[in-house]
Amino acid sequence: MKLIGPFSQILTLAHIDFKGSVKDNALEIVENGGVLVSKGHILKVGNFDTLRRENPLLEIEEITQKRVLIPGFVDCHTHTCFAGTRAMDFAERNAGTPYLEIAQKGGGIWSTVTATRNASQEELKTLNETRVNSFLKNGITTVEIKSGYGLSVEEEIKILNTINQLDTEADVVPTCLAAHIKPRDFDGSGVEYLEHLIENLLPKIKHLTNRIDIFTEKSAFGIEESTHYLQKVKEMGFQITVHADQFTAGSAQMAVKMGALSADHLEASTETDINVLANSETVAVALPGASIGLGEPFAPARKLLDAGACLAIASDYNPGSAPMGDLLTQASILATFQKLTNAEVFSGLTFRAAKALNLFDIGKISTGYKADFQAYPTDDYREILYHQGQLKPDIVWKMGYLI
Ligand code: NIG
Ligand code: FE
Repeated sequence: MKLIGPFSQILTLAHIDFKGSVKDNALEIVENGGVLVSKGHILKVGNFDTLRRENPLLEIEEITQKRVLIPGFVDCHTHTCFAGTRAMDFAERNAGTPYLEIAQKGGGIWSTVTATRNASQEELKTLNETRVNSFLKNGITTVEIKSGYGLSVEEEIKILNTINQLDTEADVVPTCLAAHIKPRDFDGSGVEYLEHLIENLLPKIKHLTNRIDIFTEKSAFGIEESTHYLQKVKEMGFQITVHADQFTAGSAQMAVKMGALSADHLEASTETDINVLANSETVAVALPGASIGLGEPFAPARKLLDAGACLAIASDYNPGSAPMGDLLTQASILATFQKLTNAEVFSGLTFRAAKALNLFDIGKISTGYKADFQAYPTDDYREILYHQGQLKPDIVWKMGYLI
């Protein structure tokens, strides 16, 4: 057992609900705070001096300068397991060629599939570890990672194995996105490709993931074929999540109907879609990094919150649409364009994002939660978003241990 502190402020997020808008005056801020940690979990949060007086023989991990402590971030949507670059796509898009047109010409997702297939598992592992460990240094203590650049039984298994074997102290949540696009070398229709996954891939990956994702979009898989796939996937016992409403609306409603844990992207969602999401248990995940990477509109985060949705914010880090990979910068920018409060952004980066992963013991600094925290060199929590990603955490703890 140890006592960590004193912190100028601890932002606990303890009393904030999963759904709906939140004003900053709902934030619990513990001044001169301390956290009592035992076996990787939080025992108590409170005034540092009081906690020290109550536990005089305790080991103290002393914080000597002003710091604000917040929960570790949960990046609930990434594609960090890839090789190669798409700098050429980025340049071409900025020169005026649309994302989907580049994809039709054989660039886009397919070009990353080729590069990823050509990489050995060892190379892929090193690339992925570098990315995840730099996330961790920036306060992201839990990260979801999708496959989806393999697109064959063998290559998807290679990627899922790599994700499972990463040497990192971050918690990693693997997801199978074999239904990213129909691979160019698959001889058959989209429906046949999905059937092939159900018969030949999914039974082989149960020990590697319990989550399945699909990219439902005109250029990938239609709503009807996605519904059929997800139905089968659910019957096999997997949890589901959907890349929904990125360019065309309709799939977020399908995700809700199918009981998906989350519907992610939502840049094209309409008022009706927003209301359907708000009246569901499906987490609405905004991916500002994809909007910034593609120069497309942001997801309607403000409207989603006002309608009562559970809004999470994730990086979507991938070589194509979201190459920046800086969650805090992206969330800060989303906040200015969508008018989000600190409370809404920090909730969306922590326990609300954890709900998208079906995890309920991370994302708050509260008794019983995992001791995953990050400290920023400031004495006012509002400085964090104000610096738009330039103020980084300089101390990170995972399960109570310093990273
Ligand atoms: O979430 N939209 C589909 N998939 C990724 C992009 C993948 C890529 O362009 O390589 C996304 O934006
Ligand atoms: Fe994505």
